[in-house]
Amino acid sequence: MTSLWHPFSSMAAVDGAELVIERGEGVYVWDDTGKRYIDGTASLWYCQVGHGRREIIEAMRTQALQLEAYHTFGDFANPPALALAERIARYSPDPRSKVFLTSGGSDSIDTAAKITRRYFQLTGEPERTVLITRAMSYHGMHGYGTALAGIPGNADGIGPLTPDVVLVPWDSVDALGEAIDRTGAERIAGFFCEPVIGVGGVRRAPEGYLKEARALIAETGALFVADEVITGFGRVGDWFASRRFSLEPDLIAFAKGVTSGYLPAGGVIAAPRVWAPFYSAGAALFRHGYTYSGHPTVAAAALANLDLMEREQLCARALEWETKLVEGLDTLLDHPLVAGHRSGVGFLGAILLDPKRLAADPDLPVKAFKAVRARGVISRAIAGEALQVSPPLTITDGEFEEMLAGIRRGLDDLA
Ligand SMILES: Cc1ncc(COP(=O)(O)O)c(C=O)c1O
Repeated sequence: MTSLWHPFSSMAAVDGAELVIERGEGVYVWDDTGKRYIDGTASLWYCQVGHGRREIIEAMRTQALQLEAYHTFGDFANPPALALAERIARYSPDPRSKVFLTSGGSDSIDTAAKITRRYFQLTGEPERTVLITRAMSYHGMHGYGTALAGIPGNADGIGPLTPDVVLVPWDSVDALGEAIDRTGAERIAGFFCEPVIGVGGVRRAPEGYLKEARALIAETGALFVADEVITGFGRVGDWFASRRFSLEPDLIAFAKGVTSGYLPAGGVIAAPRVWAPFYSAGAALFRHGYTYSGHPTVAAAALANLDLMEREQLCARALEWETKLVEGLDTLLDHPLVAGHRSGVGFLGAILLDPKRLAADPDLPVKAFKAVRARGVISRAIAGEALQVSPPLTITDGEFEEMLAGIRRGLDDLA
């Protein structure tokens, strides 16, 4: 029996049957029996630089010895938080942006949602409160993020949620236009959009969707909020997918890859249009923030991680992996359990399981990821139909081959 209540789990099944991960090095982690696994998901999509990187750990230690923690409420700041905000603004689509730091992705989404609604209070359009979200999207599990949930089930069973949220199909600009007409453009505050849907099954938007949706939202006057918690910091071959696809978002929510997970962090990047009214003389206090916003040891970890990413050119490497991942996943297409894969934008993919086998056994994705894990590769069941593939951006060709071989062997065991 365990006292640890696991996130996203059926504790009746997990209790006493945990996989205890004890150690990590590069793309590998080891459990408490000494068994080695390739981290085929970079933990939860975040470990861009691989595990055990001494440079990051040393930077954390050095900072902690100097000043381990201090808050940034009001006029307080610290050197790493200042440097990190400046660095992230420089990587963002508009370097004049401001950066609001948080402790993770869900914090960042709630922060973005509040900035979005508050922006229109400040600019004299308080009737703009509606937030539009796409089916299959995942925006974290705080209050707003749960209300914005597009994955079926993620908002169920907890009673009333934040009102004024409109759900649209994830892949249709026409449907977005209809939802805007039905709601009234003058009531819309923001559109939340993962440039590539991650947890909802690794779905790239149809050709032209992002550009057209961006233009449509611009016409309404609402804010375009890019949720780059997964796609940010290299995973899609650039610092931000918004930059790669010229989305010019009003807000970007980020987390995960900013520290490669070495310490928890996130934030929101606000373009000049958005921050201007908050920064204007006489603007009311923005009553929002977190105890650990701008935490110096966390910021030092982020800076060291970003140094490493620059030095090892990991954005460019992720772009190279984009094609190699498609080719690699293609080699699994002859397997009887594999119906196809989603990939082709950045270094993230989903192996789709055979729909007939899935119809006969809805537990197949969980069984498949456990079978693959028994063969030394960590994957994850996503969207009830697929296995996640998103290893550290540092993976070598040989390790990638080893990962594919482990996946095949695991699926063979199940077939
Ligand atoms: C797109 C997206 N947004 C938000 C979140 C929430 O991030 P966190 O779990 O750090 O709160 C996630 C987490 O996976 C995510 O994938």
